[in-house]
Amino acid sequence: MPLVNAKEMLTKAKAGQYAVGQFNINNLEWTKAILLTAQELNSPVILGVSEGAGKYMCGYKTIVGMVNGMLEELNITVPVALHLDHGSYDGAKACIEAGFSSVMFDGSHYAIEENIEKTKELVGICNDLGLSLEAEVGSIGGEEDGVVGAGECADPDECKMIADLGITMLAAGIGNIHGKYPENWAGLSFDTLDAIQQKTGDMPLVLHGGTGIPADMIKKAISLGVSKINVNTECQLAFADATRKYVEAGKDLEGKGFDPRKLLAPGFEAIKATVKEKMELFGSIDKA
Ligand code: 13P
Repeated sequence: MPLVNAKEMLTKAKAGQYAVGQFNINNLEWTKAILLTAQELNSPVILGVSEGAGKYMCGYKTIVGMVNGMLEELNITVPVALHLDHGSYDGAKACIEAGFSSVMFDGSHYAIEENIEKTKELVGICNDLGLSLEAEVGSIGGEEDGVVGAGECADPDECKMIADLGITMLAAGIGNIHGKYPENWAGLSFDTLDAIQQKTGDMPLVLHGGTGIPADMIKKAISLGVSKINVNTECQLAFADATRKYVEAGKDLEGKGFDPRKLLAPGFEAIKATVKEKMELFGSIDKA
């Protein structure tokens, strides 16, 4: 099945009280592991691409070519959206041109007026082309690809202003952080999430920083309107851990263990296991 936008999968998720995972990709192994797991579990999925990962993978057109090729060659029939993560205004336009089916414009670091103005223009473009658009209010904490945020709690009234522009899904800061959570993390602000959902109604809400959030908090967030959860660091940690074990066990020195198809296999399997665990927790299995 060709790429789809994220609207239908997220509308269904919000109505059915589960969440679709956005798993960020970094290379061919990552992409293949996520797509195969989604297909095996009959789950919709969103492939996330940060601007930094976009550069690393030789640009958006390369990524579109790789993903479209895999959808066909691997016979992927579950709904898959290819989504720009934390896009700049120019990055969003570049991905739209390259053939992404969904983009995020992260205007959370602008004053709300400018965030509204730029988001509004992108709503028009995405609607014309049938793409989904994620916007953000209140920056997410931590650091991702050089984008640093302090972990704010979004203003529910500002969330409503942005939601009313006609976006597909809204990311709002609720004390969540990219990367590993510090020991003294205060947890998600469910009061903020509740207030945002009350103001924004049916709008699917997005929880960034999915790595390391305890299962009970994930479930509560879904019950309060979160329909898309982003995971990046956890797959990276799982991949690195499995690869380190392989090398430390000296397996790359045995026979043809140095062949990248062997060397990268444990990391590939570790990504698959992580994605499976998240899809089980998010409740998206058999929701394709
Ligand atoms: P983590 O790296 O913390 O999982 O966050 C991913 C994310 O929110 C991508 O936008």
